[in-house]
Amino acid sequence: MEAIPPIPPRILIVDDDDSVRDVISVLLREEGYNCVVASGAEMALDVAAQEETPLVISDMKMPGKDGLWLLENLRERYPDTSVIMLTGYGDTESAVDCLRRGAVDYLLKPPKLTDLIRAIERALAKRRIELARKRYQKKLERKVRDRTTELRNALRDIANTYQNTLLALVAALDAREHETSDHSQRVVRYTSTIAERMGIKGQELEEIGRGALLHDIGKIGVPDAVLLKPGKLTPDEWMEMRKHPDIGFQMIQNIPFLSTPAQIVLSHQERFDGKGYPRNLQRHEIHIGARIFAVADTLDAMTSDRPYRKGTTFANAIAEIDRCSGTQFDPEVVKAFLAIGEQGLIKIKEDMHNRKLNLVQPEAQQDADATLARFTDDLDEIDQSIPGPSESSESTSDHSGPPPPEPIVLSVVSGGRQGSSRE
Ligand SMILES: [Fe+2]
Repeated sequence: MEAIPPIPPRILIVDDDDSVRDVISVLLREEGYNCVVASGAEMALDVAAQEETPLVISDMKMPGKDGLWLLENLRERYPDTSVIMLTGYGDTESAVDCLRRGAVDYLLKPPKLTDLIRAIERALAKRRIELARKRYQKKLERKVRDRTTELRNALRDIANTYQNTLLALVAALDAREHETSDHSQRVVRYTSTIAERMGIKGQELEEIGRGALLHDIGKIGVPDAVLLKPGKLTPDEWMEMRKHPDIGFQMIQNIPFLSTPAQIVLSHQERFDGKGYPRNLQRHEIHIGARIFAVADTLDAMTSDRPYRKGTTFANAIAEIDRCSGTQFDPEVVKAFLAIGEQGLIKIKEDMHNRKLNLVQPEAQQDADATLARFTDDLDEIDQSIPGPSESSESTSDHSGPPPPEPIVLSVVSGGRQGSSRE
């Protein structure tokens, strides 16, 4: 069977001179090219619009719009069309200008047939390579785009899984302590809001949020007899309890994406004046996340109801935190905290009451809510199976034990208790 010869490429010849136009088109047709003609630049654009035109051979000087105008319009509307310019003798300057503006070649008029055919073949070959390169690049870009989307989805899934795992871990701890998970989540929100006020954003903000969420995770390693003891702790038990920042740090420090949160876990009981624990760090030795967390945790502890007392007002809590600026708390953090204002802080608590936790990606929100709901159900069952705390008993996690070296903020809360409930 005979092979079908390829369709010859369409070449548009543009010249205001009929004889030049006709001679070139006749000669090229004889060589097997598919030629169309136009007597001017504007007409040439109309012809080019009718059908794909791989190559245009145009005269430079024409009445009305000239070859340069045509070249520019062709480049703009049909960037895949190659253009060869025909210039008069001695007009080298404009020929060079044409090349600069995107023409593939120029020939002096009248062109020799061999030169013309050679220029046409060169131009068409160059165009084929250029089109192949563009196709390849597009294919490559599409592949990169597809892979990037896949990778982004995979990373998002991993991030959501991480986040849900952390929430489940904290919910497990809360369940063990007979706490609701609201506290942890509110503290995350207060912490993140203060951090944002301080200009912290992006990954650092996320890491601080995680640190706040996990701050007491080390309590998993505190024996039940100490963690759940209803009465006062003995000095030994108190020492045991004070190990929880270290235990939490040991638990998560080797998990790469939790290395910064681990620092916050380790130093969340430190005080700005160096009177905290476990390392008596002071001022900027304490991780900024932990300095922010300290304010957030105190606010939540003061404004939350306990079985043995009602929470105080936000106004009281704010005043007390302000009073402890520079001793217990970093003044810069307190400044950012005060800037949120009472109404802003109350709104956060109300939002959290509606269980909106932006820390989780929207896609993972449902999963996280389901996980938390399961743990809350378990918690309810546990709550029902244990006797309620009496008025005089200590809360499960609020060990007063030996008093800390300095009175700290919670001393203003009714009952004269000392130490944060989240010690
Ligand atoms: Fe703690």
